[in-house]
Amino acid sequence: MPADAPIDLRSDTVTRPTQAMRQAIASAPVGDDVLGDDPTVNALQDRVAHILGKQAACFVPSGTMANQTAIRAQTEPGDELIAHKDSHIIHYETGWPAALAGVMIAPLDGPLGQFDAEDVAAVVRPRTRHFACSKMLLIENTQNRGGGSVWPIDRLARVANTARQHDLRVHIDGARLWNACAATGHKPADYAQHADTVSVCFSKGLGAPAGSAVAGTHEVIDRVVRFRKMFGGNMRQAGILAAAALYALDHHLERLTDDHANANQLAEALATIPGVTLAYPVATNMLFIDLAPTLGNAAALSARLLTHNILTMPAGPQRMRLVTHLDVPSTSIDAVIKAFRAAFSTAAFSPAPLAFLAATFFRVLTMSSFSFGFFLLTTSSWVKRMHLQLLHRVNLFMLMALTSSTGRVI
Ligand SMILES: Cc1ncc(COP(=O)(O)O)c(C=O)c1O
Repeated sequence: MPADAPIDLRSDTVTRPTQAMRQAIASAPVGDDVLGDDPTVNALQDRVAHILGKQAACFVPSGTMANQTAIRAQTEPGDELIAHKDSHIIHYETGWPAALAGVMIAPLDGPLGQFDAEDVAAVVRPRTRHFACSKMLLIENTQNRGGGSVWPIDRLARVANTARQHDLRVHIDGARLWNACAATGHKPADYAQHADTVSVCFSKGLGAPAGSAVAGTHEVIDRVVRFRKMFGGNMRQAGILAAAALYALDHHLERLTDDHANANQLAEALATIPGVTLAYPVATNMLFIDLAPTLGNAAALSARLLTHNILTMPAGPQRMRLVTHLDVPSTSIDAVIKAFRAAFSTAAFSPAPLAFLAATFFRVLTMSSFSFGFFLLTTSSWVKRMHLQLLHRVNLFMLMALTSSTGRVI
């Protein structure tokens, strides 16, 4: 990386292949993977299946396609998928469950993007001709929008058991399963044993330029391969990408704990700044901070950090997600902390709070003028209503007088 490259905390997907990874890419033996001829892809698939304790694996271009093919392979249109409401597939995958698999989603709630076995049991539909068929459960581990949280393995096992008792398939979206393992010391297969299919990514914490894999039984992976083709995910000499993934598995797995330590160090320092709170405890390589309005909003903070050569991405009006990764060495964490402090001290002198007060004042003024106008209108229509009622009564009185005098009802 050039010395003046920005420190990019937007995501762990921003990493660039190292020189050594590029060499592995350049020297990879390749073939036509659609014909099953690419030795490097085959080696990667075997390796992933082995790591996850499954019969087979299929290399796909992205984490999104890993989820698509795994879920499409085990459901039919009209089926229902159970997932946490903060799942990546619900928020960031363009609605493909509806478009490509035709499945409905039963969203669950719970802190940190997690839920319990009882929550699953509560939404499974009776198998009658009237209902969608509850077919599959999705567990995201680590859970991105839950602060990069790690599923406690016994909880994951209980949830998966309940799903099995209800005849549901279980898929783990393990885009960052490697981080869950780094945080807990569990092996990927410890988690995977509770699921029918597991997806993993090489392009996030592991630093490869692209690529994910789905693992499961031979039967399911045959279907995954079919849907990969249907969804346009076939690649020919894909070994150049698989080589990067293999390199990452060999060299970048163990260092994930460094990313976690960096995230923790950053979180501890930022949490001492008045007005900054951590939205979640830091579990892996992500931290979410919430800003008090007096510090301005997340977009303004992002803009100020950019002037310090720090790239960040707001995760809400007052929320920012920061992600540590391969290209954020621990030596740069101090610089990040300094930049945040400087950005916040600029915020204290910025006209933003003043502008906020002025805007609020004018809003209140406008609203009061409107409500005064409405008051006037209401008063005049009330007078009109009273006037009409009076007229009505006078009419009735005249009508009664008329009928009683003629003895007929007109
Ligand atoms: C939990 C999770 N699943 C799936 C994906 C999708 O991966 P991709 O961007 O490779 O499609 C992501 C992406 O960040 C993710 O965080």
